[in-house]
Amino acid sequence: MSKPVTILAIESSCDETSCAISRDGWMLSNVVAGQTIHEQYGGVVPELASRAHIQHIVPVVDAALKKAGCELKDLTAIAFTQSPGLIGSLLVGSEFAKSLALALDIPLLAVHHMQAHVLANLIPNDTTSQRSLPSFPFLCLTVSGGHTQIVLCHSPLHMEVIGETLDDAAGEAFDKSAKLLGLPYPGGPLIDKYAREGKPNRFSFPEPQIPGLNFSFSGLKTSILYFLQDHSAKDTDFIQTNLPDICASIQARIVSILMNKLKKAARQKGVEDCCIAGGVSANSGLRTAFRELGKAEGWNTFIPPFEYCTDNAAMIAITGHYKYLAGDFADLSVSASARAVW
Ligand code: KG4
Ligand code: ZN
Repeated sequence: MSKPVTILAIESSCDETSCAISRDGWMLSNVVAGQTIHEQYGGVVPELASRAHIQHIVPVVDAALKKAGCELKDLTAIAFTQSPGLIGSLLVGSEFAKSLALALDIPLLAVHHMQAHVLANLIPNDTTSQRSLPSFPFLCLTVSGGHTQIVLCHSPLHMEVIGETLDDAAGEAFDKSAKLLGLPYPGGPLIDKYAREGKPNRFSFPEPQIPGLNFSFSGLKTSILYFLQDHSAKDTDFIQTNLPDICASIQARIVSILMNKLKKAARQKGVEDCCIAGGVSANSGLRTAFRELGKAEGWNTFIPPFEYCTDNAAMIAITGHYKYLAGDFADLSVSASARAVW
């Protein structure tokens, strides 16, 4: 019997330090340390994020190895997020990964963070009652704090971005709207929480008319700003008394913008399987709308479990696993990069 492929993966592109261990693609552990320090600043402060990664990386890697019941000698390869992200944050994880690969004399796997979000949909799970993983070719709507993309996936390592945002990402639209409402960072999960008690049709925000499969969210942010200013001028308690309805209405518009473009893309490409990924795919309104649209359009729909939606190292491990199988190794001279091309 051939030796199992055991990968230690590190994710440190933004404000989560994470380490996962996979064996033949199955996750043995996925430890994530968040950073609450940024809440008081209303957004991620890059220098503070880098410092927190330095503090967290050794304990997080130790915890992931322990949880997986693994020792360093069991590892086959080291995977890490090479790009895109905050450069100081990426450097902590990438230099740690390179040092570990060098010390253990095992291969290094450089992973693209956005491809990894997509491949979170390929992490095997125990569901046996129905087909639980998408088949190629499939479409993935990747919605995070920094990106909004529609990706056509031909194979695990061959993906094509067929639509993306021209300005803000969907996560930014949630976070900036939340900031206007006086909610702390990151506001996306809070809008989700308040929206559950609100009426999505109470207030109407415009849908941008962007041609093709691209998105734009900056106009929405401006219209929300004017809407809140107008109403608050007449009633200083407007936000406080209407928070659930405002959140539900904002969320409904962001979700409809995303779903309309995904529907257009799926019809154009004629795919049967569609996925969502990235931090915003944790949004309950988006998950429900995506499943309903899938039913209406006759797609098979796939959504990663919550822990694999927001930033995590399990998605780096599964991407690393496919790179390992393809023999796509990185040299020790590889460096982290804030921006990345596909
Ligand atoms: O993928 P992710 O963890 O990090 C990036 O790669 O950016 O995504 C973070 C984004 C943030 O904008 C956050 O507000 C948003 O995902 N987010 C949500 C929810 N959970 C996380 N947005 C709306 N509803 C949620 N439940
Ligand atoms: Zn991400």
